[in-house]
Amino acid sequence: GDAHAPENYAWEFEGPFGTFDRNAVQRGYQVYQEVCASCHSMNLMRFRNLGQKGGPFESEEYPNPNDNPIVMQIAAGYQVEDGPNDDGDMFMRDGLPSDAFPAPFENEQQARASNGGAYPPDLSLIVKARSGGADYIRSLLLGYEEAPEDSHLSPGQYYNAYFAGGAIAMAPPLVDDIISYDDGTTASMEQMAEDVVTFLTWAGDPHMEERKQMGVMVLMYLFIFAVLVYLAYRQVWRNVK
Ligand code: HEM
Repeated sequence: GDAHAPENYAWEFEGPFGTFDRNAVQRGYQVYQEVCASCHSMNLMRFRNLGQKGGPFESEEYPNPNDNPIVMQIAAGYQVEDGPNDDGDMFMRDGLPSDAFPAPFENEQQARASNGGAYPPDLSLIVKARSGGADYIRSLLLGYEEAPEDSHLSPGQYYNAYFAGGAIAMAPPLVDDIISYDDGTTASMEQMAEDVVTFLTWAGDPHMEERKQMGVMVLMYLFIFAVLVYLAYRQVWRNVK
């Protein structure tokens, strides 16, 4: 059947002056890492992106994200394959800020084999890739329901009215308190959905804030310029009747 239109949510990052709530982006990263990352890759993200200007762990003290201790600590929590070394062997080492987020599966075949044939899409640009964007993904995460009588679910499928066709091969990923937030925020389903979508929106558009600031500066410049042009016009033509 037809998918439900996503619920319109009042995001802090919307509109010409919208900004990302840093704490929400940090919490959203935690949700991604602890819940979504077991199935979904984010191939375009590197740990250092978390510490870059506008990123969730941006720090005035460490403008270079490669030196940012939080970023280094997050990266070091992963084992990464490197090599070949001088003997021609691959080896494992602690992650570095320059490493990519590790992907949960080797390739698409393995991802499908582990998910009943369905492919968990890469989440790097998912907010841009899906129509409805942030609203759609939030609605999807919160939109699981009892399947209606006439729905035909295959094994491994779940009913979600926001998903085209209604039958989705992703089990409901969020339940209350499935994680424990580092900052002590209560991990309700709603909270986690809002936070992870905020994180994914930042990840897909990390320079949004700079772009909007630039837009405001451009408009101010044009306004001042327009006033000057008008005054110059009055001055130039003042003696002409
Ligand atoms: C699909 C987000 C956790 C497995 C998707 C889609 C999104 C998404 C946006 C695409 C829906 C569409 O095509 O319109 C998330 C988020 C998660 C999460 C934000 C964490 C909060 C998981 C987990 C698993 C999983 C833990 C595996 C156990 C899948 C699969 C699909 C999918 C198999 C493809 C579904 C289909 O095409 O029928 N997910 N996901 N996801 N996800 Fe997740």
